[in-house]
Amino acid sequence: MRIVLVGPPGAGKGTQAAYLAKNLGIPHISTGDLFRANISQGTPLGVEAQSYMKAGQLVPDSVTIGMAEDRMRQADAEGGFLLDGFPRNVAQAEALDAFLKADGIELDAVLDLEVPEDEVVKRIAGRRICRNDSAHVFHVTYNAPKTEGVCDACGGELYQRDDDTEETVRKRLAVYHTETEPIIDYYRAQNLVATISALGKVDEVTTKAMDALKK
Ligand code: AP5
Ligand code: ZN
Repeated sequence: MRIVLVGPPGAGKGTQAAYLAKNLGIPHISTGDLFRANISQGTPLGVEAQSYMKAGQLVPDSVTIGMAEDRMRQADAEGGFLLDGFPRNVAQAEALDAFLKADGIELDAVLDLEVPEDEVVKRIAGRRICRNDSAHVFHVTYNAPKTEGVCDACGGELYQRDDDTEETVRKRLAVYHTETEPIIDYYRAQNLVATISALGKVDEVTTKAMDALKK
């Protein structure tokens, strides 16, 4: 299966992707995680991406599309992929279509997670992520680790992302509305979009998402 996950920052894309990818047996590809891995390794790509991310802006397509395509090529050998955070504008969606077409493959669905803006801000302000594995995501009140600052899954240190300040979250939300939301109409025209509310408990949202994908 090949699925695109779309939704505002803090909607729970990364949280849901971890469960959905496991249930569906396909790799989870997050362009945000790929950029953060490059930043922590100090690669030239990471150096280029860092200032854009910190400012809440999109990393240029010239950098992003090639990186995503490299990862998708590896993943498709495993039977598909779940894309989280890519595509993020219409130019990236068009590039993805061209990439898939060249290989004679298609997307199966675009899952659109809807969350009100005040909830997004609360989710992001309390988010803590494990330094060992970005799939280990917690929240100080909604999904608190047993020991403050320590990952339940692996004992790793939990940290707060550089771009999770209130000012940058507002910028990321504005960028989402102007640049990313138009891809929902782009995919509606291809009859691929399933919209679900991402409010409720994490496992309830996963159930809604799996039901929507079965349709
Ligand atoms: P990226 O890493 O993709 O971030 P984002 O889209 O802003 O999304 P987030 O990771 O903030 O949120 P999420 O929806 O995954 O929520 P999560 O599951 O963590 O991108 C970061 C930056 O990289 C961009 O700004 C850009 O600069 C760059 N970039 C990335 N891709 C790019 C691209 N394609 N093109 C150009 N630039 C790109 O959940 C949030 C919190 O809520 C957690 O604490 C979680 O525990 C909690 N939570 C989750 N679900 C629930 C629930 N149901 N109830 C209560 N709490 C919940
Ligand atoms: Zn961990």
